[in-house]
Amino acid sequence: MLQCSVVGATGYTGAELIRLLAFHPQVKIAHLTTRSEEKIKASTLVPGLPKGTDYVIQKTSLKKIGEDSQVIFLALPHTTAMDAVAALRKYDRIIIDLSADFRLTNVRDFKTWYGVSHQHKALLKHAVYGLPEFYRHKIRQAQLIANPGCYPTSVILGLLPLVRERLIEFDAIIADCKSGTSGAGKKLSMKSHFSEVNENFNAYKVNQHQHTPEMNQVLSDAAVREKVSVTFVPHLLPVTRGILSTLYAKLRQGVKAAHVLKAYEKHYHSEPFVRFYGEGSFPSLREVQYTNFCDIGVQVNESNGQVIVISAIDNLLKGASGQAVQNMNIRSGFAEDLGLLN
Ligand SMILES: NC(=O)c1ccc[n+]([C@@H]2O[C@H](COP(=O)([O-])OP(=O)(O)OC[C@H]3O[C@@H](n4cnc5c(N)ncnc54)[C@H](OP(=O)(O)O)[C@@H]3O)[C@@H](O)[C@H]2O)c1
Repeated sequence: MLQCSVVGATGYTGAELIRLLAFHPQVKIAHLTTRSEEKIKASTLVPGLPKGTDYVIQKTSLKKIGEDSQVIFLALPHTTAMDAVAALRKYDRIIIDLSADFRLTNVRDFKTWYGVSHQHKALLKHAVYGLPEFYRHKIRQAQLIANPGCYPTSVILGLLPLVRERLIEFDAIIADCKSGTSGAGKKLSMKSHFSEVNENFNAYKVNQHQHTPEMNQVLSDAAVREKVSVTFVPHLLPVTRGILSTLYAKLRQGVKAAHVLKAYEKHYHSEPFVRFYGEGSFPSLREVQYTNFCDIGVQVNESNGQVIVISAIDNLLKGASGQAVQNMNIRSGFAEDLGLLN
């Protein structure tokens, strides 16, 4: 059994990790941590844990976590996770960081979008971006996995076949994305207050969201020698979980609907967690909530050269903790969907 710990286990992604790990047939939970001096019963945060388990979330030193765990999940806010990663590296464990701290390869981008200088630049070259559908071969060897952001997961998976097959123009992509409120984590803010969000709908951080460089970085990597630039407009939906992204792109000269459909089939037919609906059929949040799936449908308009892609995920699962467990499975040589289909 693999000894796994979660640092920051009281947050939304931490709670999802507890649930997934508690039911995972190859995992034993070693430590679940909080900064609080009080011990917290995991069952008060995570309903439906297996009968007879009595997991406790408590303050625990990184030394103890490093010594006792084979896989360590960090579910801490961005900019606070990097010091924990640096401290844990000496134990030579597999670290899966759900924060953004090791996702961007360019430290200037990190400073620009996250407002602080990266404190552990030397570690960035060891980090592998944990999107299995693109970097699976690297994840198999990685000791530090930078788990993708929720919006980037839905946008990148929605566009990856079109970019890899060079079917669209790379400078005219629009990502119009809508997220539920759990995407912002557990801490209170005026913007995510029930009475602000309920029966409301608004755009925020228009073309200024910190996930923009992450999308551009990975899609540019997929484009090989060409830069991809996404105009990203996030919106806040009055629901708890899920992201639905509507992606608009201009087809390259001569590209037909058949090329588009073939590209999605080619890239996703054997992917365990991407379901391609084909043309003219589109996912809703309900189909992906509480699952690790990314569901995708497309519409091609050959007469005006436009393709529209709809991509849906559960932000806490495929957009965070489910993808983190998928990465653990890949890295540990387990079946990729182990513990992720119930
Ligand atoms: N929510 C999503 O949909 C989502 C998706 C993808 C990635 N992520 C990323 O995953 C990480 C965790 O997200 P989350 O939504 O689970 O966040 P969250 O609900 O705010 O939980 C974060 C947890 O980290 C702990 N913590 C430790 N140091 C902290 C500090 N200095 N300030 C605040 N909390 C601190 C807190 O636990 P204690 O108070 O008990 O110590 C808190 O419960 C973030 O980096 C986030 O960007 C989130």
